Amino acid sequence: TRRIGLLTAGGDCQALNPALRALTLGATITHGWEVYGFKDGYLGLQEGRFMRLMPSHVTNIQGLGGTIIGTGRGQSGAVGSIEEATARCREVYDDLGLSTLICLGGDGTQRFARHLHENAGLNIITLPKTIDNDIRGTDVTFGFDSATQIGAEAIDRLHTTASSHHRVMLVEVMGRDAGWLAAASALAGGADVALVPEIPYQLDKVVAAVNEDVERGRAYSIVVVAEGAMSAERAASGEKVRAHTAVMELIDQLPELTGAEVRLTTLGHVMRGGSPTSADRILATQLGARAIELAVAEIYGVMVAVHGAELTPVPLTEVGGAPRCVPLDHPLLTSLRAVGTALGD
Ligand code: F6P
Repeated sequence: TRRIGLLTAGGDCQALNPALRALTLGATITHGWEVYGFKDGYLGLQEGRFMRLMPSHVTNIQGLGGTIIGTGRGQSGAVGSIEEATARCREVYDDLGLSTLICLGGDGTQRFARHLHENAGLNIITLPKTIDNDIRGTDVTFGFDSATQIGAEAIDRLHTTASSHHRVMLVEVMGRDAGWLAAASALAGGADVALVPEIPYQLDKVVAAVNEDVERGRAYSIVVVAEGAMSAERAASGEKVRAHTAVMELIDQLPELTGAEVRLTTLGHVMRGGSPTSADRILATQLGARAIELAVAEIYGVMVAVHGAELTPVPLTEVGGAPRCVPLDHPLLTSLRAVGTALGD
């Protein structure tokens, strides 16, 4: 019987568990394969820590947040040099008699998966997971819809308290160097201003947008700020802008420049926690099922990607590299503009 390994690596997100469920049930029930889950990502692979995953382990986990096998960050050389770690991965893979390793992860995970495929000859298939939605080669990643839902709900709640107090509410949204999550949350939550890394903002434009709200008779403002957002001034300096810089600058600058009371809400890891939305459960399940089809067909060195209505294998060579940012003509940005949300440019 065939044996396959599964691991979840990098930061967690919603819908890892429904993906693990789909992979485990597809492999065991449909094909009679054995499934092994490595604990805590690539660390468990290198240390030979794993559990046999049976259908009973994945029963009713489709709505559970996190990952039942654990995850971890930055583990490419966890047990020594990269060469030692690579050799160790091969050894554990061989000792267990695996025929395929399926890795669920974001950017870093995809890069190490490619490395193991190319340098250790492991038969690897990956799935695109991250709340940031910034993986190259796929239209969308699972985790993104759930995190957007949390962003939207938070903004909804901030509207009422902002309105009662006539305040300016800064809301910092995760997303690393991409503005997908900030733009989508701002659109769903009806924000007044949305600042994304793709569009460096002019401070005076942000101030004007906030003041305009007051002039229009709506005496409060919701300003969504991506954690990777940056002012045009900082962008022009050419220096790497650290996460949270924009929101820290704005909380300093806006009270004086707008004359309003300003409060900050940082959504942070709340965005990654709890139950996945049904859209994410469905996406993760479909991607998992497709990965098993690819394993049957012995198509390796690929990530299962969403291209329109298709779930297509894309070579891992096309996946790593710079994060996928929101194109400036993307409907998320153009529709924000269309409903009068200021983007700070
Ligand atoms: O990549 C997902 C993400 O949540 C980013 O949005 C954020 O910048 C980062 O991870 C936070 O990382 P950590 O969980 O290691 O604090």
